[in-house]
Amino acid sequence: MMEVWKKVEDCAGQIRKKTVFQPRAALILGSGLGALADEIDTETTVEYSEIAGFPVSTVAGHKGRFVFGYIEKMPVVIMQGRVHFYEGYAMSDVVLPVRLMRCLGAEILFLTNAAGGVSPTLSPGDFMMITDQISTFVPSPLIGANEEKFGPRFPSMDTIYDERLRSIIKETARREQIPIKEGIYLQTTGPAYESPVEVRMISMLGAHAVGMSTAVEAVAARHMGMRVCGISCITNMAGGTSAKPLSHEEVGLVADRAAPLFKRLVTKSLEAMRMEESL
Ligand code: HPA
Repeated sequence: MMEVWKKVEDCAGQIRKKTVFQPRAALILGSGLGALADEIDTETTVEYSEIAGFPVSTVAGHKGRFVFGYIEKMPVVIMQGRVHFYEGYAMSDVVLPVRLMRCLGAEILFLTNAAGGVSPTLSPGDFMMITDQISTFVPSPLIGANEEKFGPRFPSMDTIYDERLRSIIKETARREQIPIKEGIYLQTTGPAYESPVEVRMISMLGAHAVGMSTAVEAVAARHMGMRVCGISCITNMAGGTSAKPLSHEEVGLVADRAAPLFKRLVTKSLEAMRMEESL
C-alpha cells in the first residue's frame, strides 16, 4: 500500500498537471447541496475518476468532482460530492481529499453537510453552524504512522471550528437575514440511520445534530493547521423522532429546498472571509 502522504502528493501532482489554480479556501458540499458549485465563476473542473488512486463516491445523488474557481472573488476549490467511511474506504482515503486540498494551497476548510436534528430546538430546513463535534464513534483519521509533513502526532483539538470564521458566518447570516442556529455535530459511521434509543444517547451526550461525515474531515484539516468552519443543513429529525420513517430521498428533497438560501449564506460568508485581510 502506498504511504498516505505519497498518495496525497501523487494525487496533487496529477491535479497540478491539469491546473495551477491556487485555492485559498476549500469547500465541501454535502448531500443535495452540490448545486452551489454549478453557478460559480469556474476555472477548471477535475472529475475524481480522472485522478488515479482517488476514492470515488458510490452514493446515488453524490457527484464526484473538484471545481476550481472564484466565489465572490475568493479563490476556492469545491468538492462536489465527498466519500464516506460507510462506502468501505479506509479512513485515510476518506480524508485524502482534505489533505489534497491543503496541499493545493487551501488554508480555510468550509464544511457543509446534511444532518439529522437531535435537539428539539432544530427543525428540518434549519441551518446549524457547527461549534464543536464528537468524533469518538468513528475511527480517527490520524491512526497509523504519523506524517510530520501533515502535522504533529498528538494535535490539539481545543478549537476545531475557528472562532473568527464562526463570527463571520454569524454576522453574514444576520446581515443577509438568514436564520442560523448553532450546535454540536456528532458523526456516526452510518449507513443506517439511528435508532430512537441511539438518538436519545446522542442527545444525552450533548450533540444537537447527527450525520455520517464532516467530523473526521475537520480532524484531518486541523492536524494540518487549516482553519475550519462548518454548517449543517438539518434535513430531518433524527430517527424515531418524527412520525414517518426516514429516507435518503427525504434528506435530498429538504436539502434541495434549502439550497438557494444555503448558497447565499455560504457565498456571502466566503466573500466576508476574503475581505478579512488578517485571515
Ligand atoms: N442521521 C445521520 N445522517 C444524516 C441524517 C440522520 O438523520 N440526515 C442526514 N444525514
